[in-house]
Amino acid sequence: MSRPPLLLALCLLLAFAFFFFQSLGFFRASTIGAVPRKTVGIYALRKGDFSLKITNWGATVVSLLLPDSTGNVADVVLGYDGIGHYINDTAYFGAVVGRVANRIAGGHFLLNRKVYKLPVNSDKNTLHGGDRGFSKVIWTVKEKGGGDFPYITLYYHSFDGEEGFPGDLDVYVTYKISGPYELTVRMNGTVTNKATPVNLAQHSYWNLGGHDSGTILSHMVQIFASEITPVDENLIPTGSFQKVTGTPYDFRKPASVGSRINQISGGYDINYVLSSAPDAHGMRKVAAVRDPQSGRALQLWANQPGVQFYSGNYLNNVRGKNGHDYGPHNGLCLETQGFPDAVNHPNFPSQIISPGQVYRHDMLFKFSF
Ligand SMILES: *[C@@H]1O[C@H](CO)[C@@H](O)[C@H](O)[C@H]1NC(C)=O
Ligand SMILES: *[C@@H]1O[C@H](CO)[C@@H](O)[C@H](O)[C@H]1NC(C)=O
Repeated sequence: MSRPPLLLALCLLLAFAFFFFQSLGFFRASTIGAVPRKTVGIYALRKGDFSLKITNWGATVVSLLLPDSTGNVADVVLGYDGIGHYINDTAYFGAVVGRVANRIAGGHFLLNRKVYKLPVNSDKNTLHGGDRGFSKVIWTVKEKGGGDFPYITLYYHSFDGEEGFPGDLDVYVTYKISGPYELTVRMNGTVTNKATPVNLAQHSYWNLGGHDSGTILSHMVQIFASEITPVDENLIPTGSFQKVTGTPYDFRKPASVGSRINQISGGYDINYVLSSAPDAHGMRKVAAVRDPQSGRALQLWANQPGVQFYSGNYLNNVRGKNGHDYGPHNGLCLETQGFPDAVNHPNFPSQIISPGQVYRHDMLFKFSF
């Protein structure tokens, strides 16, 4: 007669102990299916011999493994060994930059009759969201799925006044292997109380020969754009548009990055005005890149008006993965986005979203070899 009450008491004690320790945060990291919040981790997405690693520090792509035609797999994005180095990084390797990517002239803008002052971190200008933009914060892992189309969704809440920007902003970024050798990046943003500029950009540095294979000067690049937004000596757009015809900026037909780079001081770092017709989802052909040595290639589509083409000009022996030092032109970026400094150029497409509106930025990468 005394056994069942004893067992019951034991069970109650165990249950109580479990919930007590769980409330203190024990078990969290090891509980199957639960994702730790506000801790930094590395998450893998894989489909066959195509895989990538993402960290919720800056919603950053840490690695992307891609085979060549002989099955030789290489990591085709620049990055660091271990998360610690991403904290001090100044190259924005693989990160999602925001709240406003690219430069804001003088670190201020006028919106609804109010002047907003931002931290200046690049000469007299604000670059990539300020001192502590979205690339330098911990995102929350919202969801992670496996199966045929593995994905991860990251979330960040940016408070009203963060880095000087107005309005409480919620942003989501989803990385998904959406098909064989296919990656989609989908970003959205909504603001609850005030209008704000939003311009996110995915800042991966590509080297299709492998991150440690030297420069990208022999990569063949095609950019589907017939105009650029020229900049002054501080890299701020003048507000005008310039045809690429007859200039070293003309990549309407595939050309190697190095073929005319010497005609541009420092190398390419310019916004292209995308000109191919958008499909029903607003997606335009942005660019195609091919490494003739390895045969690896990528094609990029996006629903944004511009793409910043950057040829890794400022890489100055940055100690990267496997102790490899990245020098100038060891990687190239194709950052789809709105036009730089649009907040100060009424003739550029607006980057302002108000409560009730949704910012959407979709990218599609198709890789081949
Ligand atoms: C980052 O910079 C700080 C300050 O200079 C330094 O103490 C720290 O060791 C650096 N971290 C890494 C991982 O290099
Ligand atoms: C933004 O993306 C997240 C994750 O996919 C989704 O849950 C949310 O509904 C999206 N927001 C809007 C307004 O579309």
